[in-house]
Amino acid sequence: MPPPNQGGAPGKTGSASKPSPVVFAVANQKGGVGKTTTSVNLAASFAAAECRTLLVDCDPQGNASSGVGVRRGSFELSLYDVLIGRAALKEATVATEVPLLDVVPATQDLVAAELELVDADDRATRLRQALRPHLDGYAFVVLDCPPSLGLLTLNALTAAHRVLVPLQCEYYALEGLTHLMATIDRVRNAFNPELTVEGVVLTMFDGRNSLTHQVADEVKAHFRVFDAIIPRNVKLSEAPSHGKPALLYDAQSKGAQGYLSLAREILDGPPAAAADPKKRQRGDAEEEPPAEATTTTGARARDARPRS
Ligand SMILES: Nc1ncnc2c1ncn2[C@@H]1O[C@H](COP(=O)(O)OP(=O)(O)OP(=O)(O)O)[C@@H](O)[C@H]1O
Ligand SMILES: [Mg+2]
Repeated sequence: MPPPNQGGAPGKTGSASKPSPVVFAVANQKGGVGKTTTSVNLAASFAAAECRTLLVDCDPQGNASSGVGVRRGSFELSLYDVLIGRAALKEATVATEVPLLDVVPATQDLVAAELELVDADDRATRLRQALRPHLDGYAFVVLDCPPSLGLLTLNALTAAHRVLVPLQCEYYALEGLTHLMATIDRVRNAFNPELTVEGVVLTMFDGRNSLTHQVADEVKAHFRVFDAIIPRNVKLSEAPSHGKPALLYDAQSKGAQGYLSLAREILDGPPAAAADPKKRQRGDAEEEPPAEATTTTGARARDARPRS
């Protein structure tokens, strides 16, 4: 895979040719939809494309850290230390086994950060402040969010340029997106006007299940959905127990290949319709669905739309 062109990412900085890093938040407050699997494997795929990438584990579960082989006890500083101002992001950054991929790990301590920062005026911008001076040399930063819309996700959305939404094609899949899109709107208005929804990644896709197709069609009616679809693949679920992204565990597996395709699609840039600045600002790609239309996923179509 070639390094990025200027279509999808990274963009330009003030200097004539130096690309600026693109920060992705991988977010969906629904649990177990593939956020961490997407963060780890997309970050590894960017690195495999010779794009230096930083993975930031924003979840106290620490699954993104262990997923790239950085296990509890093997590091001294974590994102907790960064957010409470005890360490610079650089000091908490650890190299991984994947060339060009670094990680800022997380531990359960991160739960305490949410409580400790509750009265801090800059509580929503701590991650952005920590990240900005540290971005030099990276093409991509991938922020793995926890399954909530609390302070940690808020920090990730405030620090990000673009949001990737992993979505499992199941009943009620769209329902939680209402809250996510409303949160993204609030963050955009309050802290981060440039935040865009890059698109929805269909995860754990099982083409034999007819509901899967129904849900996928419905999501496509309201959001930009990546052509690269991540299949349900056992190698993706086995790889974390070996502390490896799927690319190192089984590069030929359909899961690893799916994430390589996703990275390639991002590097190549969005299709013309989705690149329309107005549509991308809202994060959608299609026309307004009929008001109050009830969807096959049980969510009201109007509610499921990202709002501008
Ligand atoms: N495409 C896939 N095929 C098979 N298993 C998968 C796939 N994607 C994720 N999994 C498995 O599904 C489970 C949930 O995935 P993951 O941890 O990535 O979700 P998550 O959204 O990060 O969860 P949480 O909300 O708890 O942070 C994990 O056991 C993971 O290994
Ligand atoms: Mg996770």
